[in-house]
Parts: sequence; structure tokens; C-alpha cells
Amino acid sequence: MSLRVALVALAAIASSIHAQDEASRAPCSQLSALSTNDTKFFPADLALSCLRSVPLAREDDLVQLSGLRTFLEFQSDLDYLADPTVGRIYPGIDLLAGLDELTSMLEDDTYENEYDFQMDVFKLFSAAYDGHLSYIPDIVDVFAFGRLQSEDLDDEGIADYFSLISINGQDVVAWLNSYASQNGRSQDPDANYNQVFVNIPKVAYQAAETDYFAVSRFYQGDDTVLTFANESTLDVMTRAQLLSNKTLEGLTDGASFFDRFCSNNLTEMILAQANATGTAPLQTATNVTRVPYESISTEGVAPPHPAYPSPIAISSDKSVAGYLSETNSDLAILSVPSFSTTSPVEFENVVRQLLATASETKRTKLVIDLRGNGGGTIFLAYDLFRQLFPTEVPYGAGNYRASELHNFTGRVASENIDALGAAYPELVKSGVDGVVLNSFNYREPLTVDNEQFTSWEEFFGPQETDRGSFTSLNRFNLTDISATTIPILGYADGNTTQPRTFAPEDIVLLHDGTCASTCAIFSELMSSQMSISSIAAGGRPQKAPMQAVGGVKGSQVQGMFILSTIVSAVLAAAPPIEQLAFISTFGTSILTATNKALSRASFGGTLLVKASVNFRNDIRRGDVDKTPLQYVYQAADCRFFYTATMYVDQAAVWDKAYDATWGSMQCVEGSTSHPSSVAGGGNITAGPPETARNFFGGNASIVLGDDLGTIWRNGSLEGGRGSGSGNASNSSGNGSTEGNSDGKQDDKSGSNVLAVPLVLTSSLTISIILLFV
Ligand SMILES: *[C@@H]1O[C@H](CO)[C@@H](O)[C@H](O)[C@H]1NC(C)=O
Ligand SMILES: *[C@@H]1O[C@H](CO)[C@@H](O)[C@H](O)[C@H]1NC(C)=O
Ligand SMILES: *[C@@H]1O[C@H](CO)[C@@H](O)[C@H](O)[C@H]1NC(C)=O
Ligand SMILES: *[C@@H]1O[C@H](CO)[C@@H](O)[C@H](O)[C@H]1NC(C)=O
Ligand SMILES: *[C@@H]1O[C@H](CO)[C@@H](O)[C@H](O)[C@H]1NC(C)=O
Ligand SMILES: *[C@@H]1O[C@H](CO)[C@@H](O)[C@H](O)[C@H]1NC(C)=O
Ligand SMILES: *[C@@H]1O[C@H](CO)[C@@H](O)[C@H](O)[C@H]1NC(C)=O
Ligand SMILES: *[C@@H]1O[C@H](CO)[C@@H](O)[C@H](O)[C@H]1NC(C)=O
Ligand SMILES: *[C@@H]1O[C@H](CO)[C@@H](O)[C@H](O)[C@H]1NC(C)=O
Ligand SMILES: *[C@@H]1O[C@H](CO)[C@@H](O)[C@H](O)[C@H]1NC(C)=O
Ligand SMILES: *[C@@H]1O[C@H](CO)[C@@H](O)[C@H](O)[C@H]1NC(C)=O
Ligand SMILES: *[C@@H]1O[C@H](CO)[C@@H](O)[C@H](O)[C@H]1NC(C)=O
Repeated sequence: MSLRVALVALAAIASSIHAQDEASRAPCSQLSALSTNDTKFFPADLALSCLRSVPLAREDDLVQLSGLRTFLEFQSDLDYLADPTVGRIYPGIDLLAGLDELTSMLEDDTYENEYDFQMDVFKLFSAAYDGHLSYIPDIVDVFAFGRLQSEDLDDEGIADYFSLISINGQDVVAWLNSYASQNGRSQDPDANYNQVFVNIPKVAYQAAETDYFAVSRFYQGDDTVLTFANESTLDVMTRAQLLSNKTLEGLTDGASFFDRFCSNNLTEMILAQANATGTAPLQTATNVTRVPYESISTEGVAPPHPAYPSPIAISSDKSVAGYLSETNSDLAILSVPSFSTTSPVEFENVVRQLLATASETKRTKLVIDLRGNGGGTIFLAYDLFRQLFPTEVPYGAGNYRASELHNFTGRVASENIDALGAAYPELVKSGVDGVVLNSFNYREPLTVDNEQFTSWEEFFGPQETDRGSFTSLNRFNLTDISATTIPILGYADGNTTQPRTFAPEDIVLLHDGTCASTCAIFSELMSSQMSISSIAAGGRPQKAPMQAVGGVKGSQVQGMFILSTIVSAVLAAAPPIEQLAFISTFGTSILTATNKALSRASFGGTLLVKASVNFRNDIRRGDVDKTPLQYVYQAADCRFFYTATMYVDQAAVWDKAYDATWGSMQCVEGSTSHPSSVAGGGNITAGPPETARNFFGGNASIVLGDDLGTIWRNGSLEGGRGSGSGNASNSSGNGSTEGNSDGKQDDKSGSNVLAVPLVLTSSLTISIILLFV
């Protein structure tokens, strides 16, 4: 019996048991009946009906919107988003106008239930395509909608090779582009396109599938129909996966659903969290000591995933690994799928050991594989840069949006830093990232010339650009950071240094567009400061350039909870006259409202609640316009498409990167020498090529609601409501065919190969179907 049939049967059992009971016919009550055996998967349409039966909390929702407005003032590129400059590909989005629109829709009773409203809040934030700007309402985080292959596939590796021609009756590339633009959160369409598919480096690092085809926050219809070249079809069902730790048992209706999932008491949650972390043992990794720059055995250790060869060194969390090519005696590979690690020193050690061993074994070329890297600890990017170029001073200047609340909080914090430190020592002495008060206490950051700021006014500015007001450009005090948070080579540790292993022209960055945040900081240092070229893999099937860094290029994410904590702490430590000034300027309701916004965000994650802004802009050295790098289009120097082989053998990807850079130099036609690329001259105002806006007819960008239009949207990609979600498919009921191919297309060089996972699994193995387009 397929799982689908099982679910239908269970639904029938459940409803017959309670047939007499009025309340039990409520969708949430039916879910409750199904959940008695700790089920995590439910019929998608029933879950959606339950969500849509949750009554609207209109008055509280208005307060929540008001709180979100306060947090958005800290979004570094708020003004650019509303009216983007040339480098942005997706339409602009005026977020404050969007909040106005949601407010009037609430006031006009447009919404019938809480889910539809919160979904629009979620979509509004998502429309920024900024991985750092995120607000996930509680009700949106109860279920995810996943696709499930109903037949058994092989346990491991690639199940089959199919030539796929349509999805839900639509042209496959149009569907994929539409789907990518709805589900993706990268600023570049090629990056979002790639993220629809399995990302092997990510799988190897996280030991879980994270691609968007498998799982979405949007209802997918109840099934997805894949049609192959020979006209046979495969029917993939959608199921709702319970994400929350809380059970569905005992729910009687939408109101009880709200009580259980949407009534978090922020104070209590924080206390519980503090309780939990207070008793947990401290991170064991902190006692790792730095290894010297000395070569290690080339014997090799266990690979992070079957698609990888044996690394010579790998961190215990697999965030970084070093390889020596087994077929090319010139080539060393540093694989960095993430800068997020529990042990920064261990991470740094793996880098050092790879470099020293590469030197010892006379490797002359280095591929730095950043595919799948969504960022992590900021200062690992600085250390990695320094390990590669020990005498170069990393630039990394940036700025913050000069809002009134930032001005007040920073000035009062700076003027009362001793009182603040006495009351809240943990705020003043940095956390893991060492930058808690970096933008609020002018003594912490340095000027663009690496000197001290002399006053809050000097730090805050503001400096005007054609899109608003920003603080002075500033840099991190790397000496201070190296001493207090994570070591950065050559800072705060006396004479420590190491030789430069590779010349800039002997290094290439290998990307897939996923790169964001800390990865973007690193790539910017490498490409703009050292003129190191980049290669991009995959992307939309077209002969055109592709950006290497397709994720957010902002240089610091900040949790809304942390911002709120800073403002509250500064206020609490401030003299009464400043407290009065705060109330007369911002009003008392600001704190109630921001607390409401926080308590309605899904609880959890590294930022305590799933709500954050992009806080800091990264600005290129010498850019007189001080354009945030999110608005600077930068094509990679070369691009290649994946082949089937490259999914099962990562060494084949590295060989291709080597070849394209130092060998045959074969890149996708039209993908090289764009004026924005390193080789093309790095023109910062060149903007994207026409092809960057090609959605192959799949124009469905994120839209707020059917009857919302141009008021808050601003950009070139008009029209188009999402075609990939909300619509049950026109399944023919032909039954599915689970075919066997002979693998003839194993190396279809030059074509784009898509891998679509059809099984949700938490195990290490993956099952994917390769689709040829
Ligand atoms: C729960 O499990 C028991 C024993 O396997 C089974 O008899 C029962 O039908 C299940 N109930 C539901 C609602 O799945
Ligand atoms: C949910 O459960 C997991 C695993 O038990 C735990 O790690 C996590 O902290 C829990 N989340 C919440 C929000 O309680
Ligand atoms: C939240 O919990 C705290 C501590 O238990 C309590 O003092 C407060 O009244 C609660 N807030 C709400 C809105 O229920
Ligand atoms: C904290 O832990 C103690 C001991 O386990 C427990 O009694 C208390 O209820 C917890 N407090 C919170 C807020 O979870
Ligand atoms: C770190 O400390 C723990 C506990 O003392 C010890 O077991 C572990 O071996 C140490 N790790 C290193 C790398 O020294
Ligand atoms: C910042 O605050 C100070 C003190 O209140 C004020 O004088 C100054 O005009 C403010 N700057 C801006 C740009 O609002
Ligand atoms: C940077 O921080 C270090 C350590 O706190 C401090 O000694 C140094 O003066 C700072 N640099 C500048 C230019 O202020
Ligand atoms: C460099 O540091 C090492 C270890 O701290 C020390 O032994 C050595 O004397 C230092 N060398 C110089 C030139 O300061
Ligand atoms: C950069 O590109 C823009 C737009 O094509 C062009 O106007 C400008 O002259 C270029 N700048 C340089 C330095 O080539
Ligand atoms: C995409 O937009 C264009 C222009 O607005 C329109 O002609 C076309 O039908 C749209 N395609 C889809 C699939 O919506
Ligand atoms: C955005 O909207 C503003 C105001 O309507 C307009 O002045 C501006 O030109 C628009 N920008 C773009 C990129 O369309
Ligand atoms: C059609 O193609 C699919 C996928 O390659 C395969 O599974 C199926 O067996 C084929 N059907 C026929 C009738 O050839």
C-alpha cells in the first residue's frame, strides 16, 4: 500500500470514528485524529484546511505590523530595495509601503483567517530576495509541504535518468524558473534555479537535503505530475510535514490550533532557552589549539560523502576539507561548503594543513570550492583570506542605515558605556561574532583608514547617497576581534605568520551562485582586492554569464531579537532624561509592538526567533557612490553546466574548474568577459546582461496577494501570479511509471543536467532522479 493510500485510509477511519461529533469534522480535529501515533506526515490539503480555519487575530496583527516597521528601519538597504539601482535583477520592493498595504487590508477585513494574513507577511519579506532579511511567522512554521516519491527507489545515489519534458503540464524550464522565483531567497535567479536541485556539497555538509523542489513553505497542490519524453507520467504526491515539536493531538478546531501554535510568551520562551543552555556543557571545541604551518600525511581520511574522494584533512563538522587531486599532480582543492562551524580554530587548522601539504607536494594550483556556502562566522572569511595572503590587509568596509532609532541607541550607548557594561557585561564583551555593539559604540569599529572614531557623531554621520542616509564607512578592528573572538592570522598574536602558498593567478573560486553573507565577504576580498577569478556551475540553461555570488552580499545579519535586546538594555541603563527623550520621540507603544512582532515569529534557530534583517552593507573600495554590493552585478569569469558524472564524482567538478581556468579554457558560450567580471574589468555600474532577466516565461515572482499590485512593487518584472503553488494538478490518473534507464546519458557533456530529489529523507543517503532538459 502506498503511503498516499494509507493516508487516505487513515483520514477515512478518523472521520468515521467521530462522524457524530460536529467539532471533530473541523480539519484541525481530523489532523488531531491522524496524529495519535506520532505521525509527522499528513495529507497536504487537510493541513492547509486546518491552517485556514485559524481565526484572524486582527487587533494583535495590527500591533505586530507596527513592530515590524520598527525593525525594518535597521534593514541596511531598505531605500535601495524600494527603488533599486542597476545591479538588481528581481523587482524592487517597498517594504514599508507593503506594511501599509497589509495594515489597510487588515483594517478593511480583507483576510478571513490568520494563515492567509501571516503568509502575506512572510511573502512580503521574501520578496526582498535577501537571505538575511527574514520573518517567519509562527503559523507558517508549523508545516512544510514536501514532495514524496511514492515508489521505492534505490537506497543510495542516483535512481534513474529521465528526460523530462513537462511539470504539471507546463514547459519544464518555465515551471522550474517560476518555482525557483517563488521559493528561492537568493538575489540572483541562477542561484535560485540551482537551489531547486540537490546540492551535493550541502548534502555532504548538512547530511540532509535542503533543496526547494523537495520541500517548500507553500502548499504545492496535492501532487505534481512529471511527464517524460515518451509521454509516460510520474505522479508525485505532496504531504504536509509537521515541523513543530508540539503535537497535533487534542486539537479541536482552528482556535485551539492558534492557542497551541501562535500564543508563545516570549519571556517564557527565553527563560526556557536560558535554562536549557545554562545547563548544557560548554562547547568542547574551544580548547582546540592552532597547528603550525606544516605538512601532514597525504594518506587521506574518510570522505564526507560517497561522491567525494578522500580528503587529507577535514573538520569534524565537515565545514571545510582539503584535497589533493589524485589525477592532476598540480591541483589542490580547498572545499568550503560553509563558514558555519562549532570550532573555528579547527576550521582554520584544516586550511593551514591543506596549504602546507599542497606546498610540500608541489601543487601549483588551488581550486577553492565554495558551492553551497551560505555563510557563517564573519571572521573566518578574514582568517582564510589572511592565510592565503598573509601580508595583505583585508578591506571589508561597510556601513549601516542611519535611522533615527539607531542614532538614539548608539549615542546613548556610547555616552553611557560604563553603566551599560556594568549592567549588561555580556553586551559589551562580545559574543561569538564579537560585533554585538560594533555599530552602537563608536569605540569599537575603525574608520575606513583603520583609525579610531573620535565621537558618535563622527561614526554616525550620516553620509548621504542617492538612496538615503548611512553611517560613515567603517571597518572591524581585527586586532580586537582576533584577541576576543576567533584568531585571525597575524592579528593580536605577536609574530605569528605563515608563507604565501599560491599566487593569486594560481587560485580560482568555484561557485554555484549559493554563496552568501560570509562567503560573499570572502569572495569580494578575493575578487576585488586580489583580482582572483571565479567560475560558476549550473544555473538556468542559457548561453549567458552567471553571477558567482548569487546570495545576499550584505556583510552582517542581525536578529530582530538581538536588536530589541540592545535597545532595551541601552534604555534601561540610560539616565532618566534619555528615557523620557526616548518616550517622547518614539512613544511607549514601540516596545509593546516590537515584542508582539517577536513573539509571533517562529521560535528557534541561532537568533532565538526566526526574524532578522540585513544590518550592514559591504561597500567596494573606491566606490564613490557607496553602492551596497547587493546592487552591484558581478558576472563570474566563466561558467559551465553540470553533467551527470559531476553529481556522483565531485573530483570531476574540480577537474572541470581546473580545465576551464588553466587548461582548455572551455566555458559556456557567451559566459566570459562580461564587463562586470574580474577579467572584464570589474565595472561596478555595468549592470546585468539582458539574459539575467530571462525567466523562460515562468514569470511568477512572489506576489503579496491577488488584488495587490503596483503600489509597493517597483521594478521590471511585472505581472504573473505564481503558477507553481496553490493549484491542484490536472493529473490524468494514468498511474505512475517507475522506469529503468540504461544510464546511456551518463556524461551528456555540454547539456544542463538537473537532479530532482523525490524522496524526503533524514538519512545520509539520497535518492535522486536526474532530469535532462
Ligand atoms: C496506531 O497504531 C496502531 C498499532 O500499529 C494501529 O492499530 C492504529 O490504527 C494506528 N492509529 C492511527 C490513527 O494511525
Ligand atoms: C525541538 O526538538 C529538538 C530535538 O528534540 C530540539 O533540539 C529543539 O530545541 C526543539 N525545539 C524547540 C523550539 O523546542
Ligand atoms: C509571559 O510570561 C511572563 C513570565 O511568566 C509573565 O510575567 C507575563 O505576564 C506573560 N505575558 C503574557 C502576555 O502572557
Ligand atoms: C528551569 O529548570 C528548572 C529545573 O529543571 C525547572 O524547574 C524550571 O521550571 C525551568 N524553568 C523554565 C522557565 O523552564
Ligand atoms: C578538549 O577538552 C576535552 C575535555 O577536557 C578533551 O576531552 C578533548 O580531548 C580536548 N580536545 C582537544 C583537541 O584538546
Ligand atoms: C542624531 O541625534 C542627534 C542628537 O539627538 C541629533 O542632533 C542629530 O541631528 C541626529 N542625526 C540625525 C541624522 O538624525
Ligand atoms: C584595536 O583594538 C586593540 C585591542 O583592543 C587596541 O589595542 C587598538 O588600539 C585598537 N586599534 C585602534 C586603531 O583603535
Ligand atoms: C615568535 O613567537 C614565538 C612563540 O611565541 C617565540 O618563541 C619567538 O621568540 C618569537 N619570535 C620573535 C622574533 O619575536
Ligand atoms: C561601466 O559600464 C557603464 C554601463 O555600461 C558605462 O556607462 C561605463 O562607462 C563603464 N565604465 C567603465 C569604467 O568602463
Ligand atoms: C510572462 O509574462 C509575459 C509578459 O507579461 C506574458 O506574455 C507571458 O504570458 C507570461 N508567461 C507566463 C507563463 O505567465
Ligand atoms: C520606483 O518608483 C518610484 C516612485 O514611483 C519611481 O520614481 C522610480 O523610478 C521607480 N524605480 C524603478 C526602478 O522603477
Ligand atoms: C518512458 O520513460 C520513462 C522514463 O525514462 C520510463 O520509466 C518508462 O518505462 C518509459 N515508458 C515506456 C512505455 O517506454
